[in-house]
Amino acid sequence: MKTRSVTCAAASRGEAVFVLLPEGRADLGAALQGAIQAAKATGDLDTSPRAVSVFHQPKGAGFKRLGVVGLGKAADVGAEELRRAAAVAQARAEALGVVEPTLVVPASVVKKSKPFAAGMAVAEGLVLGAYRYEAPRQQKPTKRSAQKCAVATVGLSAADDREFARGLKLGAIAAQGAVFARDLENQAPNILTPTSMARHARRLAGGRLAVKVLDEKQMQKLGMGSLLGVSRGSAQPAKLIVFEYKTPGAKGNVAVIGKGLTFDSGGISIKPSARMDEMRYDMCGGGAVMGLFHALSQGALGSHKPKKNIIGVIAAVENMPDADAQRPGDVVTAMDGQTIEVLNTDAEGRLVLADAICYAKKFYKPELMCDLATLTGAVVVALGHEMAGVMGNDQKLVDALIDAGDEADEPLWQLPLWQCHKDQMKSKFADLANINSPAHGNGSTAGGAFLSYFAGDTPWAHIDIAGAAWGGVAKDYYKGGASGTAVRTLLHWIRTL
Ligand code: BES
Ligand code: MN
Ligand code: ZN
Repeated sequence: MKTRSVTCAAASRGEAVFVLLPEGRADLGAALQGAIQAAKATGDLDTSPRAVSVFHQPKGAGFKRLGVVGLGKAADVGAEELRRAAAVAQARAEALGVVEPTLVVPASVVKKSKPFAAGMAVAEGLVLGAYRYEAPRQQKPTKRSAQKCAVATVGLSAADDREFARGLKLGAIAAQGAVFARDLENQAPNILTPTSMARHARRLAGGRLAVKVLDEKQMQKLGMGSLLGVSRGSAQPAKLIVFEYKTPGAKGNVAVIGKGLTFDSGGISIKPSARMDEMRYDMCGGGAVMGLFHALSQGALGSHKPKKNIIGVIAAVENMPDADAQRPGDVVTAMDGQTIEVLNTDAEGRLVLADAICYAKKFYKPELMCDLATLTGAVVVALGHEMAGVMGNDQKLVDALIDAGDEADEPLWQLPLWQCHKDQMKSKFADLANINSPAHGNGSTAGGAFLSYFAGDTPWAHIDIAGAAWGGVAKDYYKGGASGTAVRTLLHWIRTL
């Protein structure tokens, strides 16, 4: 049995071994087999998916507790099942006050997902499952000391075990990136402002990662009238956060662009008050980019050297209805010279992204470009919270992102982006309007179509995460609030570059 550690979260004293156990026979080696047999004999052992049974002082075992997390049929165990089971084990260990549980993963449950993906999934389950947003309260929470979970495999060949270990290491880094994103995303909108978001970004700089932040004056000089129009009604100055992750030997750039609305009131086209507080999450596209670069800065790619430099751009802006706020009907000019009639100030995400896309194109000439945004309520109506919508002007890129989403178990579903959608975005008073006519009926594809004018002929995809970013059903490694979605997907995609 080979054992390695993943640092996830909290707890106090005690010890336990948790086995991820499929139905039927599993080869666990002599030491554990006896304890499992004894547990079976009690009649209390349940191997159905995610069931937990804990046996105290198991006979003949050298540890205080044996925990069993069921996995169902071994042949059906993929990455998602492992991720969830690991999170279930972590939660129970923490509840029991176990400082350093050992998680045992038998070879039979690693087959379907392959050892690397299995290792990743286990680490992700442990780290994501341990995440908790610590709300600012007068009564400070008792500090959670880092919980180390030892992870052991049984029955893997040496080569498979090395792959599993590599997955474990990179999965933990990926999940820590998502946790970093979740933590920013959950912050109150008066606490996480464009300025504080930029401060968090700057702290990530070092090694291969450079970070710079443009202020409104600099954006003004560049002619970013579309982004600045959104910011006008807010007392919080907008920031353009730019990441450059450079790999020695890499040629050319790919750009990942995030919508970072730290709060979206709708502006003069103000939103209804019910659930307006949820518009703190309107920076989750930017959150995904922050999480991605957090992970990259921590070595999330392992020994993989992408052939392209990875550029990140976040438009960090607040949308408010003050005296100087832009009006419905205002015409603004984006950095590339295209003029936009702002028919609805609540369709602001596309306005800030337009300039962020122009910026990425002008300064980095990316070969591939992908934006992430909580862009439309319509995508929640179309697809719900368990997946994001993706569209673009390059099918190969869209397919690559869909594949990456599948690997991360953060599914993407493609929506069309047809000429008819693009035609809807023309305006009588400017080159483009920021909304289509309600008579058209389509919402998410209108947002994508608008952005396509700024992507131009750069291969580009747009991921609408308005559903996926928060509000999904709880599932062991996600317990509510911000999901940190897309960080792991982006990492899988970058691994293919
Ligand atoms: N941030 C919202 C989109 C959103 C709404 C995300 C609800 C999650 C839940 C975006 O800026 C917005 O307000 N979009 C409008 C566009 C409309 C005015 C064309 C929308 O979806 O209603
Ligand atoms: Mn809006
Ligand atoms: Zn918005």
